[in-house]
Amino acid sequence: MSRDAQQTPYAEILLLARAGASVIQVTTHEWERVQGLAVSLGQTLNLPTEVWSRARGLYRLEDGSVREDGLNRPLALLTWLADREDKALVVMEDFHPYIAGDRGADEEIRRLRELARPGRKPRPLLLLSTPVPGLPIELRKEIPEVELPLPGPEDLEQVCRRVGERLGKKAQPVPALLDAARGLTVMEADLAFGQAAVELGRLDGSAVGLVAREKKRVIRQSEVLEYHDPDRNMDEVGGLERLKEWLDQRGRAYGPGAQDYGLDAPKGVLLLGVQGCGKSLVAKSIASAWQFPLLRFDVGKVYGSLVGQSEASMRGALKVAEALAPCVLWIDEIEKGLSGLGSSGQTDGGTSARVVGSLLTWMQERSAPVFVVATANRVDQLPPELLRKGRFDEIFFVDLPSRRAREDILAIHLKRKKREPKGFDLARLAAASVGYSGAELEEAVREGLFRAFAEGVEVKDGHIEAALKDTYPLSRTMREEIEALRKWAKVRARAAAADDGEPLPETDKSTPRLKQESWNNPFVPAGK
Ligand SMILES: Nc1ncnc2c1ncn2[C@@H]1O[C@H](COP(=O)(O)OP(=O)(O)OP(=O)(O)O)[C@@H](O)[C@H]1O
Ligand SMILES: [Mg+2]
Repeated sequence: MSRDAQQTPYAEILLLARAGASVIQVTTHEWERVQGLAVSLGQTLNLPTEVWSRARGLYRLEDGSVREDGLNRPLALLTWLADREDKALVVMEDFHPYIAGDRGADEEIRRLRELARPGRKPRPLLLLSTPVPGLPIELRKEIPEVELPLPGPEDLEQVCRRVGERLGKKAQPVPALLDAARGLTVMEADLAFGQAAVELGRLDGSAVGLVAREKKRVIRQSEVLEYHDPDRNMDEVGGLERLKEWLDQRGRAYGPGAQDYGLDAPKGVLLLGVQGCGKSLVAKSIASAWQFPLLRFDVGKVYGSLVGQSEASMRGALKVAEALAPCVLWIDEIEKGLSGLGSSGQTDGGTSARVVGSLLTWMQERSAPVFVVATANRVDQLPPELLRKGRFDEIFFVDLPSRRAREDILAIHLKRKKREPKGFDLARLAAASVGYSGAELEEAVREGLFRAFAEGVEVKDGHIEAALKDTYPLSRTMREEIEALRKWAKVRARAAAADDGEPLPETDKSTPRLKQESWNNPFVPAGK
C-alpha cells in the first residue's frame, strides 16, 4: 500500500528517486500509464527515458529507436545495466516473471539486488512496471513499491476528450459522466466512452447510463466484485433499532460539516448473527440510505491457483473500491473467505495468510471513504485479528427478531405484497412465531398468499398462521447453537435490536438434523 495516501504516485516516485533509490517497482495493469509517468519523471529529473520489454529489447521512449542491440534476454539486460555508468531512466516492462522466486531465477535476482544498492557511480534509475504486486523475498526490502491507483477524475477527463477526438464526436466530460467511469482503468474507460460515443453519436451527460452499465460489466468480470444497484432500503428492515440508529449517526460523518467538526471517516461494521435475520438486507440498505454505490466482495474467490494471483486480485478489488469511494464494500460471509488462515498458512506457502493480512492492513490504514460491511454466521471461523479494535468501528450481533420486531417484519412483507398490514392480526401472528427468522416470516407471508390464491380468496391471518405452523424454523434444530452464540455475543458484540431475544422453545430431540445443522457447536470458538 502507498506510504502516504495524500501523496500522488508521481510525487512518491520522485521523492524516492531524489532520495537515491535506484530501482522502484510500480504496480499496475496499466503499463501505458507507467510510460506516461516515466516521460514526466524523465523531464523533471532531466534523464533520457528508455523502455525495455522482452519483445522489443531496449529502446528510447522518445522516438522508439533501438538504444542497444541484443538485450532481449533479461539477464543480458541486467548484466549490461550493471556496467552502465550514464544516467537514464529505464522502464522495465513485465519483468516479474524473470525474477519469480520459484523459477530458479537466482542470477537475475542477485543482479537486480546489486543494482538496487546505492553506489558511488552514477547509474540508471530502473522502474519495474508490473501488473502484480510482490517481489521475491530477496528483493522485498531492497526495492520500494509504489502502487498506481485507478485513474481519478482528471485522468478520466483526458481519456474522455481523447476518445471524442479520435471518433470525431463532441465530448462534454460532465462530472456525472466522469463519475460513472470511476473504478475503470484507462483502457476500460476508453472502451466504455468509445462504445457510448458510437451508440449515441456524442459523449455527454446522456452517456452516463451506458458508461455505468459497462462499468458494472467490467467489475463483474473480475469475478471477486459485483456492482449492485441498492434495491432495498432501511424502511424494509424490521427491528434492529440500535443498529439502525448507529448507522444513521455514522452516515452523518459523510455529510456536510462533519469533517470540520472533527468526525473521523467511519471504517465499517461487522454483523454477526443468526441466519436469515437481515444481515445482508442491512448491507444493501446502508448503500441506498447513504446513496453510495454498493460493491459486493467475494473474498473466497480471491484465491487463485497462480502464484501472486490471489494477492493481485485482492489488491485489485480494494483498488476498485477506493476508486469508487465513497462506497459501501460488502463482504458477505467473510468467515468463508478468511477461514483456514492459520492452517493453510503452512500449506500454500503463506499465500492466504498474506492475502488476509493485506485485507486487514488495508482495513486499518485506508484513507478513502470506503465503508466496509462484513457479515458472518460462524464466529468460530473468524480470525481473531478481525475482531481486534481498529478494523471495524463496531461489531453488532443480529439475533432472531423479538415479538415486536416480528410484527414489524410481517407488516413489511405484507406491504411489499401490496397488502394493508392493518387488516391482519399481527400480534397473534407474532405470538405464533417465536424463534422464526425474518426470512422465515417472509416465506410464511409468501406461502400464505399461495394458499389463499389456490382457494380463490383474499389472504387472511389464517393462511399465514397455517403457513407458519407448517414451517419448521431453523432455531428449533439449532437452539443450543443459537443460545451459545447469544452468550458469546453478550460480551463481545453490541446488540443490534432494542429488545433482548426471547428464550427459545425446547428443542425436539427426536427430529433428525441435516448434516449442516449438526456442527459441533459452530458458533463458539473451538475449545471454549
Ligand atoms: N429484520 C428483517 N426485516 C425485514 N425482512 C427481513 C429481516 N430479516 C430478514 N428478512 C427477510 O429475509 C431475507 C433474507 O435475509 P438476509 O439475507 O438479510 O439474512 P442474513 O442475515 O444475511 O442471512 P444469512 O446469514 O443466511 O446470510 C431478506 O431479504 C428479507 O426479505
Ligand atoms: Mg446474508
